[in-house]
Amino acid sequence: MAARTATAPGAPTTKLGKAALEIDDRLIVAGPVRRTLNKVFPDHWSFLLGEIALYCFIILLLSGTYLTFFFQASMTEVVYDGSYDPLRGLDMSIAYASTLDISFDVRGGLFMRQLHHWAALLFVASIIVHLLRIFFTGAFRRPRETNWLIGVALMVLALLEGATGYTLPDDLLSGTGLRIISAIILAIPVIGTWAHWAVFNGDFVGTEIIGRFYIVHVLLIPAILLALIAAHLLILVKQKHTQFPGPGRTEHNVVGNRLFPTFAGKATGLLFVVFGVCAALGGLVQINPVWLWGPYNPAMVSAASQPDWYVMFLDGSTRLFPAWDINLPGDYTIPALFWPTLVLPGILFTLLALYPMIERKLTGDTASHHLLQRPRDVPVRTSLGTMAITFYLVLLISGGNDVVADKFDISLNAMTWAGRIGLVVLPPIVYVITYRICLGLQQHDREVLEHGIETGVIRRLPHGEFIEVHQPLGPVDEHGHGQLAYGGAPVPKRMNHAGAARRAIRGFFSPVESPSAVELEQQAEGRGLSAGESRELTTSGRPSEGGRPSDGGRPQDPRD
Ligand code: HEM
Repeated sequence: MAARTATAPGAPTTKLGKAALEIDDRLIVAGPVRRTLNKVFPDHWSFLLGEIALYCFIILLLSGTYLTFFFQASMTEVVYDGSYDPLRGLDMSIAYASTLDISFDVRGGLFMRQLHHWAALLFVASIIVHLLRIFFTGAFRRPRETNWLIGVALMVLALLEGATGYTLPDDLLSGTGLRIISAIILAIPVIGTWAHWAVFNGDFVGTEIIGRFYIVHVLLIPAILLALIAAHLLILVKQKHTQFPGPGRTEHNVVGNRLFPTFAGKATGLLFVVFGVCAALGGLVQINPVWLWGPYNPAMVSAASQPDWYVMFLDGSTRLFPAWDINLPGDYTIPALFWPTLVLPGILFTLLALYPMIERKLTGDTASHHLLQRPRDVPVRTSLGTMAITFYLVLLISGGNDVVADKFDISLNAMTWAGRIGLVVLPPIVYVITYRICLGLQQHDREVLEHGIETGVIRRLPHGEFIEVHQPLGPVDEHGHGQLAYGGAPVPKRMNHAGAARRAIRGFFSPVESPSAVELEQQAEGRGLSAGESRELTTSGRPSEGGRPSDGGRPQDPRD
């Protein structure tokens, strides 16, 4: 390799440039960094959902680290002597006392606790909404099944992370949750008692469980989450992002903004927005005021004890499931609790994980897909999705059926039966309704393509008939029927509303540019891409490394 000298053409002249060259001489990173910064990311609001999950995770790591400086995961009993008067003099675990100290005596402690809790709620919510966007748009199809599987693992781990964290303060509410966890473990046939012994080091509650959950919560699960998120994102970069169909978008390119500067700028902005929202919630909206619950005491369970929202579906399934203990010969019992708390989530998560494979098998579609589908174009999948969401929502609402019954003055039995019946009856009804809506939306798109956009202008024909004038979207045949084929992209529905054929007019609350200027700009370009958007191509030369091979196979990443 020819030695690079300061006099060589294009050699850096600034100190920073020279330092960069020195680093590159040693680590040879310029190529990969340039390629990464040039990566093109498609622009769609729904692609931000995964990012929100990522930013929540960062907030959780930062706020959680602060909390570890003060939290003590010990179940040793002490007499509380902190500054919260109503509990002073009470026996409690060191874990609970240190949580009270964080809330009342540590500078910024309460804010950090609340920030951590809100970020956790938002983390799981954003994961689930992100999952729904992946599901409903078919982004999980080949070659992205691995990322789907990693995603399901991330979701399950996030739930476990939340459940273990919830237990740590050792207050009355979390202790009640821990009692339920203990009962669920005991309900496992044959190995239940052994498993309980292994987890709790003996009977409930013992002296170890908070310390064990602490290590699981601050070390084990976060480390696995971190590794899986890294793998998730590396796979995403390697395979490239999917994109919605539209002009200029094919299975073999990616249309959007380069990582640097546009995408990085937007992503950093979103990070601060997520941080700001969590901080505002943490600072202004009270969450889990453990001092009001008091220390854990197995003899006391308050009414309306609810887990965090993401565990409520399991609480709901437990409330709805009949008390069917199965007594087997030989003095074995399978407690009713086993089915709604272990078997049901086991089946649900397994079905979810295997969904891409199941769909591939049933449809016979084994091709690679980089263009997304609009939910209306895949009515069966979309209807299955809404059916599953309905099932989940019935369980979720049933998780708080005592509160609903109390607030609306309904009998709790009626709520339970409504939940049982709703769980069976509502999902198929929702399936049928969604299916019909999908077909209707598709039909309307096709209608507009064929007959044009309704203009609202009514004309009277010579023989007296009134007709509405339609604005065709493209060339028409001799009968005035549009010749554009339905391609799964948004179809403009309003006059002078160009839909996917034009980029959106910029502006958050109100437009900051004139529609005609955008029109002109795009006419000048003579293609469907805006000036700010880039295209990552594969076949022609090298605007990008690593495009998608035209045979529809996996993306490649050729080296220089
Ligand atoms: C800790 C949780 C998670 C984080 C931090 C995360 C992060 C991300 C990010 C930043 C993206 C790119 C932006 C986007 O498409 O939204 C992405 C894409 C993706 N995620 Fe996740 N994700 C998580 C959980 C999940 C789950 C639960 C699933 C599904 C079961 C999933 C499946 C996927 C797939 C298939 C892609 C590729 C999408 C495409 O190319 O269009 N992820 N994820």
